[in-house]
Amino acid sequence: MSADRSLNLNAPVKNSSSIRLDLQTWTEVEDYLKHCKGIILPIGSTEQHGPTGAIGTDTLTAEAIAREVGCRTGVLVTPTQAFGMAEHHLGFPGTMSLKPSTLLAVLHDLVVSLASNGFEKIFVINGHGGNIATVKAAFMQAYGTAISQKLSVSSRFQCKLANWFMAAPVRSFSRDLYGDKEGHHATPSEISLTLHLQHSLRSKQMPLPDPSPAGPIHGPEDFRLRYPDGRMGSDPYLAQSSHGEALLEIAATSLSQDLSNFLKAS
Ligand code: NI
Repeated sequence: MSADRSLNLNAPVKNSSSIRLDLQTWTEVEDYLKHCKGIILPIGSTEQHGPTGAIGTDTLTAEAIAREVGCRTGVLVTPTQAFGMAEHHLGFPGTMSLKPSTLLAVLHDLVVSLASNGFEKIFVINGHGGNIATVKAAFMQAYGTAISQKLSVSSRFQCKLANWFMAAPVRSFSRDLYGDKEGHHATPSEISLTLHLQHSLRSKQMPLPDPSPAGPIHGPEDFRLRYPDGRMGSDPYLAQSSHGEALLEIAATSLSQDLSNFLKAS
């Protein structure tokens, strides 16, 4: 791995295979750590996304944005954690959920593994709102573990959560395109991004009746009663692959800057 792999937003890495952790050897990772202590960990979910959205929507989107951010910054990207906290979606077939305590343990173990290797800054790119509370809890627990295990990086070990769908430029773009039809689940924004990434999904799109309005989230039976087709206030029929292409660009630009700031900060 050459020196031009160091973080440099002006010299993007073109080839995504060169920033994928799963395609490196351990000796290449050891070399990488000599000039960059940061790494990107994408996390999504495997859960229903309304009658027209793919089960893997949150994972497809988080992974694509993470790899684009990796290409632009030269920062390595780990394999995607495809399963998230989706307990409230279990009333719909195809959903596979980790309980909050399981996800906390998984995330904790993954980031502590990276810290024990010498990674100091873990940038988690998340595609699912239901993961947020648990991921933050996992970070806090991991900091304690790094100290109790006396890891050499413990005083510099930092994790940051980046929810791509909450980035200000993404929200602004979505609001302009869809207004209040963006909704809260199976949104036209995330569906647009999947249409850009996977052309086969375009054939699933169809007009839908008005969705149930957004409201509270409780257990899976309650969720299905309140939101019978899986949507929360969204109109995914507004989704277009061209919107998705633009959203990928906007999200990757915003998160690349956030990552750069995170790596530079003390
Ligand atoms: Ni989603």
